[in-house]
Amino acid sequence: MPEPRDARLVGSVDDGALRVVQVTDTHVPAQPGFPTVIGLLAGIDAGDPMDHLALVLADIATLDPAPDLVVGTGDLADTGDPQAYRRWRDQFLPLDLPVWVIPGNHDLADAFDAHLVGDGVHSAASSRHGSWEFLYVRTGNTEWGEVDPIHADELRAALAASDAAHVFVWIHHPPVGQHLPAHEALVRDDLRAVLGTDDRIRATAAGHVHVADAGELDGIPVFLTPSTYTGRPAPGSRTFTLHPDGRVDTEVRFVESLFRFDDDQVARLRAMAAERYAAEPEARRGAAPHARHEVEGWRDAVAALPDGPG
Ligand SMILES: [Fe+2]
Ligand SMILES: [Fe+2]
Repeated sequence: MPEPRDARLVGSVDDGALRVVQVTDTHVPAQPGFPTVIGLLAGIDAGDPMDHLALVLADIATLDPAPDLVVGTGDLADTGDPQAYRRWRDQFLPLDLPVWVIPGNHDLADAFDAHLVGDGVHSAASSRHGSWEFLYVRTGNTEWGEVDPIHADELRAALAASDAAHVFVWIHHPPVGQHLPAHEALVRDDLRAVLGTDDRIRATAAGHVHVADAGELDGIPVFLTPSTYTGRPAPGSRTFTLHPDGRVDTEVRFVESLFRFDDDQVARLRAMAAERYAAEPEARRGAAPHARHEVEGWRDAVAALPDGPG
């Protein structure tokens, strides 16, 4: 359900720029000390996601000037649990900033909408902030990052209805920089179909791959933001300063890394990705039910682990 636009959410500092913090891939578990999917699938104990998240939130609280809003770009819960979304709210609401969110492939869209979105946490196809229109592309609960055709129509309509001078696109699955070429090809196709030839797109920001990086799609910058949980080279967040003339300044802000992958673990993760790609070399459309089933399977398996709640 689209939220009403809030005209107050314009840059609050004299230069008229809008200041945004992107957090992504927080992978919040249902309960403290709960096992996570990376432990389940790869046998890697990367610690409690809340430990790094606390460092990121403390860092955001030090920003001067303070940000105007926060955008969370998916995989906000590790296995889509209602309790995880309530924990996420408990962590972010003390920042006292408006928060906009989109789901990732570890989120379950119905629980996300029911338990995360609400007072202070918004979800919509778009939001207007001064001369900037934000477009929120929901690819959560999809196997490869495809955009549901109904949602694509909603995004195109939001873009067509906006008289903003500049557009910023938020998405979980990046259109470039993914581990598996078949994934990013599908996202690219769907994103291009939504954006068309609109010449107001100034930048895109994504998560999903957990790394700090940058690339471009059709000449438009694509910023990849590290996970707050297992970010590489370290966990962190990314700030954006969006100027009224369309310029974009951005900085990755790393926090202390309480966990680092060793060489064996990196090799294991690469081998798992290669195995999956070999099994499914082509991106499939219409695989959202499979993706949802996969998250539910993780949720049930994690809960059944010996150190889970039983
Ligand atoms: Fe993730
Ligand atoms: Fe993801």
